[in-house]
Amino acid sequence: MLDIIILAAGKGTRMKSQLPKVLHTIGGKPLLEHVISSAKPLTDSPIYSLIGHEANKVKEVISNKSQYILQEQQLGTGHAVQQALPYFRDDSIVLILYGDVPLIKTDTLKRLIACVDNKSLGLLTVKLDNPMGYGRIVRDDQQKVTAIVEQKDASQEQLVITEVNTGIMAVNSAHLKQWLPLLSNDNAQSEYYLTDIIEMAQKQGVEISTEHPEYNWEVLGVNDRRQQAELERIYQHNLAQQLLLDGVTLLDPSRFDCRGQITTGNDVVIDVNCIFKGKVTLGNNVTIGANCVIENTTIASGTTVKDNSILEDAQVGECCTIGPFARLRPGTQLSDNAKIGNFVETKKAIIGEGSKVNHLSYVGDATLGNQVNIGAGTITCNYDGVNKHQTTIEDEVFVGSNTALVAPVTLSKGSTIGAGSTINKSVEEHTLSLTRSPQKSHKNWQRPVKK
Ligand code: UD1
Ligand code: CA
Repeated sequence: MLDIIILAAGKGTRMKSQLPKVLHTIGGKPLLEHVISSAKPLTDSPIYSLIGHEANKVKEVISNKSQYILQEQQLGTGHAVQQALPYFRDDSIVLILYGDVPLIKTDTLKRLIACVDNKSLGLLTVKLDNPMGYGRIVRDDQQKVTAIVEQKDASQEQLVITEVNTGIMAVNSAHLKQWLPLLSNDNAQSEYYLTDIIEMAQKQGVEISTEHPEYNWEVLGVNDRRQQAELERIYQHNLAQQLLLDGVTLLDPSRFDCRGQITTGNDVVIDVNCIFKGKVTLGNNVTIGANCVIENTTIASGTTVKDNSILEDAQVGECCTIGPFARLRPGTQLSDNAKIGNFVETKKAIIGEGSKVNHLSYVGDATLGNQVNIGAGTITCNYDGVNKHQTTIEDEVFVGSNTALVAPVTLSKGSTIGAGSTINKSVEEHTLSLTRSPQKSHKNWQRPVKK
């Protein structure tokens, strides 16, 4: 039986932010949510987050993912876990996690939990080249852990110890209920240190088993924005490596960012400086050019998105061509073989098979059939200043360049619109419509000369 508590009540002073630290993000996801995600596979019981600073903001973000316990004053990590004592079941193992240590892996936690029984507790430690700031692990001649000493309380000999406390531990709830009330705050920081239970355990003959993370980055904490930036790079590096292993070509794995979830087929190619947000799915043989931003979008097999395109809440069919410099806004749906070219903006636009909007157009609140051709500079005038209106363009319509389609308006199947028209009445099937002032010509026209 496992009870999980995540300490997340601190302010995070060094972030210099209005936002509580645990709501700052890595890969677009709050730190605390990362920890909850790592803990989730370990239990079906509720996970408790101990919150305090800006508790309401934190509550909102974790509301359906974790229960919360309030720690009104932050008097130290020992005091923090004490607040949660009434929630721990009698025979449970309590796993203590930190809301600002986001990259901890589920497997590491499983190994730590396996260390615990009635006569032992599990402590996750790690050797760091630079142990500065961390609690040091003190071992005796037999290499048994006897205590944890905080940086600020450590002697000169203890400061050279490189094995440090990650903070993460797994302890019998009965032991915690016995030890936590005995903590004192008689130390350099006048805080109730959770780490003092190690010495109590040792004195009582409870064995302290240490486990270690597979990678040091699993236990790195975010205390300031430099560490946040460092962890962001580690996180993105890991995602990029996974994509490479999944068979994706990343032209430069160090210039790839995913702030959400990306699912990929075979032979996907992603050029440099792309950002993926929310849920993105790329089918087989999809190619994404440089500098694209793609959010909550599904792209089917064989489609090419050229450089500098932005896609948001869009659905793209097979073998389409998009960009360069295209902007697909929410509600855009492209059927197979559609083409959206440079400087084209679409919004709530359903575009049929093989239809083309190749240059400098705005298509919004519109439905296009199959094999439609929209000439350069065509605008759907969807907004009358108050309401939005629909434009319907049926199969095989040809719209000449520089046309304004004043919605609501329908261009029926096979109709043709002459270039430079302003169309505000619907056009019947196979009809040519144009509004164009007659061309005037003045022979031998003299241009004005400079005075
Ligand atoms: C703690 C450990 C230290 C370890 C380090 C690892 C103690 C006494 N020290 O030090 O041995 O090397 O973590 O990162 O445990 N928190 C609360 N309520 C409180 C105090 C803290 O919720 O009253 C939360 C903080 O929000 C934070 C975490 O507990 O998420 C750690 O607290 P922090 O003050 O940063 O401890 P460290 O000094 O880093
Ligand atoms: Ca810390």
